[in-house]
Amino acid sequence: MTEREPNSDQHGARGGSDTAAPRHGEGQFVIRPAKAGELPAIRRLIGLYPDELVQDELPRVSSFFVAESDGSIIGCCALQVYSRRLAEVRSLAIHPDHRGKGVAAQLVDACRRRGIERRVRQLFAVTSEPGFFEGCGFTVHTGWKTALFSNLDPGS
Ligand SMILES: CC(C)(COP(=O)(O)OP(=O)(O)OC[C@H]1O[C@@H](n2cnc3c(N)ncnc32)[C@H](O)[C@@H]1OP(=O)(O)O)[C@@H](O)C(=O)NCCC(=O)NCCS
Repeated sequence: MTEREPNSDQHGARGGSDTAAPRHGEGQFVIRPAKAGELPAIRRLIGLYPDELVQDELPRVSSFFVAESDGSIIGCCALQVYSRRLAEVRSLAIHPDHRGKGVAAQLVDACRRRGIERRVRQLFAVTSEPGFFEGCGFTVHTGWKTALFSNLDPGS
């Protein structure tokens, strides 16, 4: 699942401005880059969803944005940049008490803005929640390249 061209008018169905400054959301939370030392809190959040999210080999902390509310990290999402062509939006988790408030949409938008700043041409996400990402402007890719998977673990 890839995002529409960053410069297209269609991008970011819920997107806002492209400024990188932390923003207050609809509720009481702030979206900001993660700080050094916050990886344990991010890991705890991701660990709430062992079926949905990979726990090992997380991106480095500087790749993450977090949502903070009342001094706690209640959401996280990383942008892993592979090249000028491609970056992955991954490790998206929102604490169960804070779902449905637009936190994830704002985290994905922060990743999108960082991708634009770094002149990345396309974002993708491998997800169990395609409906959510479609709402964020991602579409099933039908362009000149196709993502193919080869299963190395017959049990999975
Ligand atoms: C999926 C998840 C990230 C959504 O977080 P959230 O903060 O509740 O989502 P938001 O409130 O930002 O939702 C934004 C919009 O997406 C919609 N949405 C949320 N989850 C959705 C889903 N699973 N399928 C379709 N749409 C969804 C919301 O209804 C909302 O729509 P609206 O703007 O029309 O009101 C969160 O439920 C989560 O952490 N799940 C467990 C971990 C996970 O599955 N991560 C993603 C895998 S890569």
